[in-house]
Amino acid sequence: MDRNASTLPDDSRVTELPRPLPSAPVVVSVCVNCKAADGAVVGPAMLDAVTAALDERDVAVMVRPVQCLSVCKRPTTVAVTSQDGYTFLFGDLVTDTGPDAVASFVQSYQKSDYGLVPWRERADVLRKGMVARVPPLRWSPEDGRAPK
Ligand code: FES
Repeated sequence: MDRNASTLPDDSRVTELPRPLPSAPVVVSVCVNCKAADGAVVGPAMLDAVTAALDERDVAVMVRPVQCLSVCKRPTTVAVTSQDGYTFLFGDLVTDTGPDAVASFVQSYQKSDYGLVPWRERADVLRKGMVARVPPLRWSPEDGRAPK
């Protein structure tokens, strides 16, 4: 006999499990030591621009300066992470296009299971600038596949 909702008593119905959304706060780390090819330090301008773009969208997020994300050959670099979410690391970002792309990405990140933002929701500059995607600790299937 099939068991479905109509044959189960009300108190035994399976309730939907909570979605594995990343826990707050989402943290955006911007390298303030990044230098352009001509030697000019470009990280602080990116930090200001990313902060402004997130403020404009009223996104609840923590933005912090960091001194090097070890992707120095691809300035400027930005990481997006949270305690229970994926960590994404991007390089080659410029202030014209990077900050809005990051702000949009953070909004998607907050709505995505484990913070795994679908490819279609990532701006072109982030697709091209992707350096690393590291799964969260709390999600670790034996075969290593990403959640669907
Ligand atoms: S100086 Fe920016 S990643 Fe190293």
